[in-house]
Amino acid sequence: MIVRPATPEDAAALSRIHVQSFDDGWTPADITTWIARPEGIALLAEDASEQVAFALALQAGDEAELLTIATDPARRSQGLGHTIFRALDAEAGRRGLNRWILEVARNNLPAIALYKSEGFVEIAVRKAYYKTGDGRVDALVMSRPVGSSDRHGGA
Ligand SMILES: CC(C)(COP(=O)(O)OP(=O)(O)OC[C@H]1O[C@@H](n2cnc3c(N)ncnc32)[C@H](O)[C@@H]1OP(=O)(O)O)[C@@H](O)C(=O)NCCC(=O)NCCS
Repeated sequence: MIVRPATPEDAAALSRIHVQSFDDGWTPADITTWIARPEGIALLAEDASEQVAFALALQAGDEAELLTIATDPARRSQGLGHTIFRALDAEAGRRGLNRWILEVARNNLPAIALYKSEGFVEIAVRKAYYKTGDGRVDALVMSRPVGSSDRHGGA
């Protein structure tokens, strides 16, 4: 298993993972746009030449905003979420960024568990922020310092 920067050639595979992970999954063109942005950080995990997880972050001032993180549904709960986030955190550190910020739906329990085990804490709530099939759900805004992955537990 390796972690490497995503390139536009990866967009179709990453879109497949994203579409299986979110109701409003991104197209290959959406993914390419994010990968191409100079302030973007796009990393993927690859196993036997197959993309199995990826994450996209954006540099904004001295903050790193986690835009999305997703693992192939067939490969979840194997530590890939931790692996990809920690690689992203290391890259954010190399870029001199100071804080992580993210938004996550209050009912997304696997993601919240991942973020908490990586040291994120809730700093705000955006009420009824996301549309769901049957209504709206709050977004939790979570944050933590960049570069503190090695001080937290997990896979
Ligand atoms: C969130 C997500 C990326 C986690 O990926 P993963 O590869 O399964 O993560 P890991 O195996 O590294 O597990 C990380 C942590 O997530 C939590 N977790 C994983 N699967 C879980 C589940 N089914 N239920 C509850 N918590 C779970 C655990 O706390 C785990 O930490 P631990 O191993 O220290 O206990 C994955 O579930 C996913 O792709 N979800 C759909 C996309 C999404 O919602 N992304 C986040 C919002 S942007």
